[in-house]
Amino acid sequence: MNKNRQSIRLCKYDYSRAGTYFVTFCTQNRECFLGNMGSIKNNISKKTELVANWQTLMRVFIRPENEETKLILLKYMEQILFGLNSFLKKHVGITEKVSLKELSMRFTETIINKNPEKKLAEVITGLIEDIAPHAVNVASPYFVGHMTSAMPFFMVHLKTIVTALNQNLVKIETSKVVSILEKQVIAKIHRIIYKENESFYNEHVQNAKTTLGIFTKDGTLANITALWVARNSLLASKEGFSGIEKEGIVPAYKAYGIERCVILASKLSHYSFKKAGGILGIGNQNIIGIDVDTNNRINLDLLKKEIKKIKKTGGRIKILAVVGIAGATETGTIDPLQKIGMLCSENKIHFHVDAAWGGPTLMSEKYKHLLDGIELADSVTIDCHKQFYMPMSSGMVYFKSPTIMNSIEYHANYVNRPGSVDLGIKSITGSREANSIILDCALKIMGTQGYALLIEHGIETARKFAEEIKKRPDFQLMTPPELNILTYRICPVDIKKKLSEDNFEQRQSINKELNKINRNVQRLQREAGKSFVSRTTLNIGNKRKEDIVVLRCVIMNPMTNINILKKILDEQEKIYRCYITTSRP
Ligand SMILES: Cc1ncc(COP(=O)(O)O)c(C=O)c1O
Repeated sequence: MNKNRQSIRLCKYDYSRAGTYFVTFCTQNRECFLGNMGSIKNNISKKTELVANWQTLMRVFIRPENEETKLILLKYMEQILFGLNSFLKKHVGITEKVSLKELSMRFTETIINKNPEKKLAEVITGLIEDIAPHAVNVASPYFVGHMTSAMPFFMVHLKTIVTALNQNLVKIETSKVVSILEKQVIAKIHRIIYKENESFYNEHVQNAKTTLGIFTKDGTLANITALWVARNSLLASKEGFSGIEKEGIVPAYKAYGIERCVILASKLSHYSFKKAGGILGIGNQNIIGIDVDTNNRINLDLLKKEIKKIKKTGGRIKILAVVGIAGATETGTIDPLQKIGMLCSENKIHFHVDAAWGGPTLMSEKYKHLLDGIELADSVTIDCHKQFYMPMSSGMVYFKSPTIMNSIEYHANYVNRPGSVDLGIKSITGSREANSIILDCALKIMGTQGYALLIEHGIETARKFAEEIKKRPDFQLMTPPELNILTYRICPVDIKKKLSEDNFEQRQSINKELNKINRNVQRLQREAGKSFVSRTTLNIGNKRKEDIVVLRCVIMNPMTNINILKKILDEQEKIYRCYITTSRP
C-alpha cells in the first residue's frame, strides 16, 4: 500500500461536490503535477497528493499553510483557549464505549509515510474527532480517582507561550532571563518550605554557586535526584577515595567498609523509591518498607527499632536516607514529619520528605500545620502537575543546604561550564522546558490564598464524603482523609458484623469475596463511563493484616462537590445490587 503511494497514480476526487475532474499524477521522484480537467469551483478543498518538498515544508514550518487550515486551527483553538471546560465536555469522554482492545486494533500501522499523509487542518480535525473522544476527561468533576484533574483554564495559555518561546533551561545561552526567573521561583517555594530568613534568600536567590532546588520532569525524578544527592553526600570523597559518583558502588562500599546501603520508608511510600534503589546501584530490595500504624503513618517505634538494629551492625550497613511522606499516594496520609526529622538529626541521617502530593498544603494557613516538621527535611519533593494544578508534567526537588547539590555537578565543554549559572549543571535532566514560567505566573494569578482555597475545598469535601460513606449501610470507610484522599469499600452492614467476629479464617474468606465485589464494581463503573473512582489494595488489619481491595477517591477538582460524590456512591450501590443479583447462582 505504501509502495503504491510513491508510484505514478491517478487520483480522482470530489466529483460529486465539485462537478469537476482533477487528476493528480505523482511520480516516483515525488514531483506533483496537477492537471485541471474541468472547471474549478470556489471553496472546494482540493484533495491533492501531498508531497514533502522544500516549498511545502517551508509553508508548514512558518505558518498555517493556507486560509482553510488557519480557520480550522482557529475554530478549535478558540474553543480550547476560551472555553476549555465546554470543549472538554463536548469532545472528550471518560467513557469506555469503545474497548481498549478495539482501539488497539485501529492503531497497528508501523510504517511512516515518506510523503505527508495529511494537512495540518486534517490532522487537527482527526485529533478532535478521533482521538479526543477516546481520551480521558480528567477535568470532569466526576473523575475523582487519580491525582490528575481539571486545571485553571489559563494553564493552557501559559503552556502555549512556554511552547512558543521554546526555551531550554539546560543553559543560560538558550534561556537567559528564564533561568534567572527559575532561580527566583525556586527560592519562593523554598521559603514556604524552610522559612529561612531574609538574608539567606538575599544571598542565594541569584547566587550562581548555590542551588536551592531544581525543576524535574516529575515527582519520580525529583525523588531520585534527592536520593542521588543523599547517596553522594554519604559516600563522599575522602582520603584514598574520590567519591561514589566517580568510582562507583563497589569501591565506595570498600572504602567505607560497608556491605549494604538502605533507605527506610513507610510501606505506603511511592514506588519511585524502588526505582531509585535500582538506579543508584544500592539495589531496590534495600528500600526497607516500615509498617504503618493504624492511621497509615509510618510506625515510629518500628522505624526507631530498625535504625537501632542497623546501628548495631557497627557500620556494615549504612542508612542512606529516611523518607517521610506528606500525602501518601494511596491514602493521602502524612507521616509524623517532626518526629522523623528529629530522629534523623539525632542519628545524622539524610531526611527526605516526599511531598509530591501534599506540598502545596503549605499555602493554606488553615492546614499547613499538617506538614509541621517538613522544614527539618534535607530534601523535599513537590509535584507541579499535582496540587499546583499545572499541566503535565513537572516536578521539583528542594534542598535545605544550598551547597549539597554540588555532589551531582556535571560539566561539558560546550555547555554547563564551571562558574556559569547554567541550571543544567546540577540536574538529572539535560534539555528541559521552562515550566518555571508557568509556576511563576500561576502563583501571581492565584496568590497563596487562591491555592489555599483549592486545597481547603479538597480537604473539606473529602471530610464530608467520609461522613456520607459512614452513613450508608452498604459502605465501609477504610482510610479517613487526612488531606483530600480517602479509601472505602462496599461492605454491607450484615457483613460488617461478621467481620467483627474474632475468626480470622472466616474474615479472610469474607474479605476475599468483598475484594472480588469491589474490583468488579469499580470496573463496571469505569466502563459505564459516567464517573471514575480508582482502586488499590491495602494491606491492613488490626491483629493480622490482610490484602483488602479498596475504592480510592482523590478530590482535587474544585467543581467536585458532595452532591456529585453522593451520585457516585448511588451509582456504585446500584451496580453492586445489580452485580449481586446477576452473579448469584
Ligand atoms: C507521594 C508521591 N510521590 C511521588 C510520586 C511520583 O510522581 P510522578 O508521577 O510525577 O513521577 C507520586 C505520584 O503519584 C506520589 O503520589
